[in-house]
Amino acid sequence: MEALRAFLRRRSPGQSELTTARTEADEPEVLSGLVDGVTCGAPLAVILRNSDVRSEDYREIRDIPRPSHADYAAHIKFGGFQDVSGGGHFSGRLTAPLCVAGGICLQILSKMGIYIGAHILQIGDARDVPFDPVGVSDKDFEAIRSNPLSTLNEGAGENMRAQIMAAKEQGDSVGGIVECAAIGVPPGLGDPMFDGIENRIADIVFGIPAVKGIEFGSGFASAGSKGSENNDNFYMDGDTVKTRTNNSGGILGGITNGMPVIFRAAFKPTPSISIKQDSISLSRRENAVLEIKGRHDPCIVPRAVPCVEAAMAIALYDAALELRVES
Ligand SMILES: Cc1cc2nc3c(=O)[nH]c(=O)nc-3n(C[C@H](O)[C@H](O)[C@H](O)COP(=O)(O)O)c2cc1C
Repeated sequence: MEALRAFLRRRSPGQSELTTARTEADEPEVLSGLVDGVTCGAPLAVILRNSDVRSEDYREIRDIPRPSHADYAAHIKFGGFQDVSGGGHFSGRLTAPLCVAGGICLQILSKMGIYIGAHILQIGDARDVPFDPVGVSDKDFEAIRSNPLSTLNEGAGENMRAQIMAAKEQGDSVGGIVECAAIGVPPGLGDPMFDGIENRIADIVFGIPAVKGIEFGSGFASAGSKGSENNDNFYMDGDTVKTRTNNSGGILGGITNGMPVIFRAAFKPTPSISIKQDSISLSRRENAVLEIKGRHDPCIVPRAVPCVEAAMAIALYDAALELRVES
């Protein structure tokens, strides 16, 4: 439970000037499935209560949807009955339970020798150094967790902080990229076509609100390179099959090849900004101007880092479970 609490704290709001001013204890209350800190086989049910709520901030949004938030799409789908306050079912808050599930998977995976870590690769135009695709190690993960802004290079974090603060002062927001790696992943996890490891990771990563893109290994850059540049040549390292490069991001044909699994997820800038924006009134069917009140993250990315780790952990643990069942 201590490890889980520490993991959840990395996502919790209100911890610095870079996040929303809302505060949540995020104390996981276990309803069932745990006896004396050990899972007992009954379904594990955990509740995280919302304590710092200001629903009145969302009154106007019921009629005037926020540009690039889910308000309009949800209004159409649910006929106006959707819960708007706090973002309802579309709130970043829904990543708290994702982190409970992922935080538990991370603990089980580490007992299997599989370790997962993520860092902020980019915010605005400030960049960190990327993971070494063949040499990323758990030392890198430790270094990231000791840096206040989850970067490999501490200096990069300072530039990112400046970008977030500049946007915040203007009532604006910024987006960014989270890079995630898993090491110790055995070869052979996953399936061809529709149930590949890429598919399974992407499925859960897109469950994190504000993710708009994902790439594995050399990803979009591979489209502009030659086969001779992008192919990962095999070699024997003692008795282990490895590749000299890892442009495949540890996945071939949807199946892990034993190299680090690496992907990057792109986050859009937070849609709720305090600058006035053009929208519409749903009741009056006419154009309207929206001025958003309420407390929002000027950048989603710092709080999303553990969410991305959680998504990778859930996908890989699910796949690893199949191996265990089969053996
Ligand atoms: C950890 C986290 C915190 C978020 N905080 C906010 C926020 O404060 N304000 C906001 O408008 N959107 C926030 N979002 C993003 C919205 O939930 C998201 O953009 C919206 O639901 C629309 O979904 P889409 O961007 O995936 O299309 C947050 C997302 C995450 C993952």
